[in-house]
Amino acid sequence: SFDVNVMSFNTSLSMVIKMWTYTETSIGAIARVRDFENNTKSEVKPIESNTPPPGWPTSGAIEMRNFAASYTESSDLVVQGINLTIQPGEKLGICGRSGSGKSSLLATLLHLLEFREGSITIDGVDVAYIPRDVLRGSLNTIPQEPYWMNTETVRFNLYPWPGDTVNDATLIDVLRKCHIWDTINEKGGLDVKMAADFLSHGQRQLFCLARSLLRKSKVVVLDEVSASVDIQTDSLIQAVIRQDLRDCTIISVAHRLNTIVDFDRIVVLDEGRIIECDAPQILLSRPDSRFKELYNL
Ligand SMILES: Nc1ncnc2c1ncn2[C@@H]1O[C@H](COP(=O)(O)OP(=O)(O)O)[C@@H](O)[C@H]1O
Ligand SMILES: [Mg+2]
Repeated sequence: SFDVNVMSFNTSLSMVIKMWTYTETSIGAIARVRDFENNTKSEVKPIESNTPPPGWPTSGAIEMRNFAASYTESSDLVVQGINLTIQPGEKLGICGRSGSGKSSLLATLLHLLEFREGSITIDGVDVAYIPRDVLRGSLNTIPQEPYWMNTETVRFNLYPWPGDTVNDATLIDVLRKCHIWDTINEKGGLDVKMAADFLSHGQRQLFCLARSLLRKSKVVVLDEVSASVDIQTDSLIQAVIRQDLRDCTIISVAHRLNTIVDFDRIVVLDEGRIIECDAPQILLSRPDSRFKELYNL
């Protein structure tokens, strides 16, 4: 019976790790739907067996060439004709009306959709051939909906990844940066279990931001992270992103367009295609720009 206990412990541990890998890389509803459609086995194809070098991606250069993707092998393309060269450390904002393909484009970076045409490389490595769990574990995704495990402590929820441990000073430092250490400290600090109502709504997103600061990936993908928080919390999130993720390549779908107007470039999507791609000030100076139109709404 001892063996059985060890087995079930290992099984539940691997479930926890799976859950984290899955949740932290989910882009809103897409990943949830995908999870129903594919079980893990059928999603991992033999071709996806090229393990990238340790520490990949080290620069965060992204290249999309004549790229197209769809939700299933045979359904209509939802992003297509995508040609995009993103420099290491570039801050790229993505906008477009609802249903234009913004979340789908981000999801392709995590290989949540089927690649149909062209290619995506990150630091020269073709994403199509990397095991999907390795790919997702190598990028930093900040989801729209904050999440944690109610049964676990602040310490665990802040750094749930297996392998390394992080010292308390570092954990407290990121919580301070995200302005939630005082609240957490008052509630008992790093070893307190995080009940469902542990933090207020805005503080939850700040907690997830703190977690992502410990993630240390050169590529950060954000899908409307501040869509459901107040303006003040949004400003704080934006300031932390600019300060603490400044060395990273950031691809951000913006809810409020003023949060990307200082980015290096803006991509405007329409029906899954790029219709504008340039520096925000250049787009704003064009009378017929869609970005300008959306920005002035
Ligand atoms: N899980 C899904 N399965 C199939 N089609 C989807 C799924 N999610 C979104 N779509 C479709 O993909 C297109 C782009 O949607 P989406 O990427 O969510 O746009 P946006 O993020 O810009 O609002 C839409 O036509 C939408 O209906
Ligand atoms: Mg979306």
